[in-house]
Amino acid sequence: MSITDLLLLGRGSDLASERGVSCPGDLPEASDPALQERARIARAELGSRAFVLGHHYQRDEVIEFADVTGDSFKLARDAAARPDAPFIIFCGVHFMAESADILTSSEQRVILPDLAAGCSMADMANYEQVAECWRVLEELGVAEKTIPVTYMNSSAAIKAFTGEHDGTVCTSSNAHTTLTWAFSKGERVLFLPDQHLGRNTAVLKMGLALEDCVVWNPWKPRGGLTDIEIREAKMILWRGHCSVHARFSLDSIREVRSRISGVQVMVHPECQHEVAINADIIGSTEQIIQTVSKSPAGSKWAIGTELNLVKRLAQQHPDKQIVFLDKSVCYCSTMNRIDLPHLVWAMESLVEGRVVNEIRVPERTAHFARVALDRMLSLI
Ligand code: 13P
Ligand code: SF4
Repeated sequence: MSITDLLLLGRGSDLASERGVSCPGDLPEASDPALQERARIARAELGSRAFVLGHHYQRDEVIEFADVTGDSFKLARDAAARPDAPFIIFCGVHFMAESADILTSSEQRVILPDLAAGCSMADMANYEQVAECWRVLEELGVAEKTIPVTYMNSSAAIKAFTGEHDGTVCTSSNAHTTLTWAFSKGERVLFLPDQHLGRNTAVLKMGLALEDCVVWNPWKPRGGLTDIEIREAKMILWRGHCSVHARFSLDSIREVRSRISGVQVMVHPECQHEVAINADIIGSTEQIIQTVSKSPAGSKWAIGTELNLVKRLAQQHPDKQIVFLDKSVCYCSTMNRIDLPHLVWAMESLVEGRVVNEIRVPERTAHFARVALDRMLSLI
């Protein structure tokens, strides 16, 4: 992190004012200039054969080479809207690349520059666990009136499960619309895998009570719930969370409010409920960007989402004070697996006629996941 970053993120301003010094020497470039040049050459050689998508949580060095940027919802739509591009290079995480593969034609090939770019939240729900949960709901006679809804941040297999069981997918920007649809179809929702997005949307947008929500723990027999709790629940929330967003705390909101007078706190709906209800605004990454962009000069924001995005917003809006909500929260380590060396490798390999790190969803899974994704896209 450069000194400028530290200054923008608040921590540096504390440190700099405490010590009254600036960096005494030259700092290295954020990215190796030779590698940037290789990236430019490879990108130019690929031309319109490749379409590079970059999620908002990606590093600056990667975003620089993205043809489009967006949250997971926008990127899914963007990928589907480019049937002419034979190669889709997805700078994001595994579940996003899977969705791009599902939404594009079988001739198009989707590449994830580093296969280690997974998502800990998506890994918190596997197919067998979800099938076991459904079996219990069937046994209790409530499955028929339960609509399974999975957050985009889930594996293709889980999306396929919802597609096969008359459910759908949602993202953080359309969760309210999706739950409204789900409750028009059934009496109860099984929400996978992020309990916080599910709870925040149900309580803060749908007007449900906290008591209407129960948490299914996949590591306990029958989810750790009684039959009565399951039967009476309106929302069965899967016990999953984002390892980045779930770390923002109420203490960090109190701390920033006492430190910066007039600051507005804006958080992603993957944050814990007590954080969400004490924030001024809750929004998906795309909504956070729009809100900051439209705010007047001099606005003060403490933002609780991934650090790469908050840093970029601070750089893009020097007329506003933008700080990261909690100094102890880290980057998303899996998003950060995609770096310039991996992107250059993926692009140069393509130039040489080799497709590396292709993401290919098995046909049957892709079919039912597409049913769920198309259902979601038709709701907007
Ligand atoms: P959105 O892109 O839907 O805002 O989700 C945030 C996220 O955690 C992606 O991994
Ligand atoms: Fe997964 Fe959270 Fe990282 Fe998004 S930010 S990829 S939900 S761990």
